[in-house]
Amino acid sequence: MWVRILLREHNIKMKLFAFQVLPPVNFTLTVSALAQVLLHWEPNPAQEQNNSTIRYDVKILSPEPEEYDTRRTRSVRTAALHNGFSARVRTLLLQEGLQISSDWVEGNLPPLPGAAETSVTNLSCVTHVTIPGNVSLHCSWLPGQGAPEDTKYFLFYRYETHTEECPTYSKDKWSRNIECRFSSTQIQPGEIDNLIVVHINGSSKRAAIKPFQQLFNQNAIEKVNIPRNISISLEQNDLLATWEKPISPFHEECFEYEFYLINLKSGNKQILSLSSSSFQLRVDASSRYSIRIRANLNHICRAPGVWSDWSDIIYVGQNKMENSIAWILTLLCVSTSCTLLFVAIICQINHVWSKLFPPIPTPSNKFRDPFPIDYERARTCPSSTETEVGSLAEGFSCSVLDDSVF
Ligand SMILES: *[C@@H]1O[C@H](CO)[C@@H](O)[C@H](O)[C@H]1NC(C)=O
Ligand SMILES: *[C@@H]1O[C@H](CO)[C@@H](O)[C@H](O)[C@H]1NC(C)=O
Ligand SMILES: *[C@@H]1O[C@H](CO)[C@@H](O)[C@H](O)[C@H]1NC(C)=O
Ligand SMILES: *[C@@H]1O[C@H](CO)[C@@H](O)[C@H](O)[C@H]1NC(C)=O
Ligand SMILES: *[C@@H]1O[C@H](CO)[C@@H](O)[C@H](O)[C@H]1NC(C)=O
Ligand SMILES: *[C@@H]1O[C@H](CO)[C@@H](O)[C@H](O)[C@H]1NC(C)=O
Ligand SMILES: *[C@@H]1O[C@H](CO)[C@@H](O)[C@H](O)[C@H]1NC(C)=O
Repeated sequence: MWVRILLREHNIKMKLFAFQVLPPVNFTLTVSALAQVLLHWEPNPAQEQNNSTIRYDVKILSPEPEEYDTRRTRSVRTAALHNGFSARVRTLLLQEGLQISSDWVEGNLPPLPGAAETSVTNLSCVTHVTIPGNVSLHCSWLPGQGAPEDTKYFLFYRYETHTEECPTYSKDKWSRNIECRFSSTQIQPGEIDNLIVVHINGSSKRAAIKPFQQLFNQNAIEKVNIPRNISISLEQNDLLATWEKPISPFHEECFEYEFYLINLKSGNKQILSLSSSSFQLRVDASSRYSIRIRANLNHICRAPGVWSDWSDIIYVGQNKMENSIAWILTLLCVSTSCTLLFVAIICQINHVWSKLFPPIPTPSNKFRDPFPIDYERARTCPSSTETEVGSLAEGFSCSVLDDSVF
């Protein structure tokens, strides 16, 4: 029994080793899109097959090590290529559960050209699902330490087969681009784990600017929108809150929330993690609360993204005492300052007036007034106009009379 099995295995090995396993030929690496390499090779024409299966072992060495095997003679990989790319491939012969491999053949892409330290650094990108269901993209970066002041950077993104240059940049004080905004992209909002490729190259009169590439998982950089239609009420000692999921192609069950509650009386702060979009909390009804909510995708539907911004602050509960005191104080302050201002203005006007028209010295009352009766009449408004209360005519007639006297 044992002998027979050993013999059989020995026979197979003998059979397989009887012909050589030869490495593939014409292994080539081609850049087929931004941050995309096509690996291609041909079967060795001298390879005998004899009832065995041929596969290929592929080993990516850099930038990110990866190993896989394939029946095909081509393979497409997405990788940041600014520091080059290197990979190996070998033939794999499988027969009756045994496998024998050839030697490796290796291929390389050189690093993208450019002077050291001229590449951008600290690249970060974030996406946003906009109201009509489009995805916006915003990226920012720092110019390389060795980038001359006249460097002009250009950003491109690639999503699947679509490549596009940034339409709107923001600049630093040397007017080098350091930020880019796409208000609408071809990124599909509901996709899971697709890659967004970002490529930033540049030009300068003084140095060759080395391009930089980075791959982003579209889910990891999606900044979730703010929860909508938040409604908060206080019923006796219960705080009731409901809201709607953010604008997103994902269902309600895909979201989690954080509820940030501050008791403005005691100063206590609480952050509650919630998985539903409504909730009830026992509170102290005599306090006033400030509330903010933010959202993120949970693990159920896909990897979480970036937390949304906090919603606007919503206040509930009454602090009537404090409120009315504050109101009274404000009113007092305002009226006091108004009065002071008014007085100041009056004083100022009087001062100026008296300078412009120095007071006419009052005539000494040496002589008897020749027309004492007329004088008296002129000081009062004529009785005929008294009925027209508040009319202009009355005002004029009064003043005209007054002037005519002096
Ligand atoms: C493979 O098959 C050919 C004919 O099909 C035969 O001549 C050759 O000896 C075989 N090689 C081995 C190693 O079995
Ligand atoms: C490999 O490439 C050479 C030169 O391009 C070509 O002549 C040859 O036919 C190729 N071999 C295979 C198996 O495709
Ligand atoms: C595979 O082997 C069987 C017998 O072992 C033979 O009949 C057949 O022709 C072989 N096929 C090939 C493609 O060599
Ligand atoms: C840029 O990134 C480096 C390393 O990741 C970090 O140490 C540095 O603080 C970052 N600079 C800024 C301004 O964010
Ligand atoms: C949304 O994207 C589509 C396709 O790119 C475009 O036609 C449409 O104008 C975009 N809408 C907005 C509001 O940007
Ligand atoms: C930057 O990259 C884009 C896309 O590959 C290319 O079309 C453009 O010519 C490059 N610009 C410079 C200045 O290298
Ligand atoms: C949210 O509120 C707005 C305006 O208050 C309303 O038009 C909209 O229908 C509400 N959204 C939902 C999903 O009910």
